[in-house]
Amino acid sequence: MGIVVLTGAGLSAESGLATFRDGDGLWERHAVEDVATPAAFRRDPALVHRFYNARRRQAAGAQPNAAHAALARLSNRADVTLITQNVDDLLERAGARDVVHMHGALNRAICAACGHGWPASGDMAASEPCPACGTPACRPDIVWFGEMPQHMDRIMQALADATLFAAIGTSGQVYPAAGFVEIASGCGAACVELNLDPQRTSPLFERHIVGPASQTVPAWVDEILG
Ligand code: APR
Repeated sequence: MGIVVLTGAGLSAESGLATFRDGDGLWERHAVEDVATPAAFRRDPALVHRFYNARRRQAAGAQPNAAHAALARLSNRADVTLITQNVDDLLERAGARDVVHMHGALNRAICAACGHGWPASGDMAASEPCPACGTPACRPDIVWFGEMPQHMDRIMQALADATLFAAIGTSGQVYPAAGFVEIASGCGAACVELNLDPQRTSPLFERHIVGPASQTVPAWVDEILG
């Protein structure tokens, strides 16, 4: 039974990490075009690094919650493709293996000149030389608006093979992730949404589990693992 799980910012909300579109979300405090596009990085790399350095520090200070732990348990005990739109490493720190970060990861850097990637857990600066080509062009390994999400071939194959698709803590407003439920459903998967309240894409799911992820996800995983 191929299970595909897609998580969003709501998974980490109870760990204290801001979501994007809830009341006090990140996009209420920062214009996307100033901090989350390739043009923004070309225009003001220091501002972009300040934004992601702050998020990296917050993520490093946060702890996985019961929902991360439950998904880690599921990923180690069932045939699961665990996809996340989140860039924190709370699922890995909860013990999940093989997490598919489709929007990149805060604790990785890439070179804007040659594309080389490397682990980077501390603050970053554009002046940091690339370990491969030496160019001072360090950027966060984050998929910005207008860039292609990562691991899409693997994700598409998992959706085609899925018998169960779950979307957890995501508003379903950003594609291609928002379209995954239609692909999975079209390939015959049962689709369940776990969220605090109904979302734009809710009508596409046949089951809704309403409540905070730290409560709903452990119960759902227990149900799956029997
Ligand atoms: N438990 C469950 N769901 C929650 C919780 C919670 N404790 N708190 C918030 N949510 C839900 C909200 O109801 C909302 O549906 O999490 C969702 C958060 O939505 P967004 O802030 O839009 O985050 P997300 O869906 O992950 O955004 C997708 O947009 O800006 C880009 O790259 C960014 O990966 C992000 C993408």
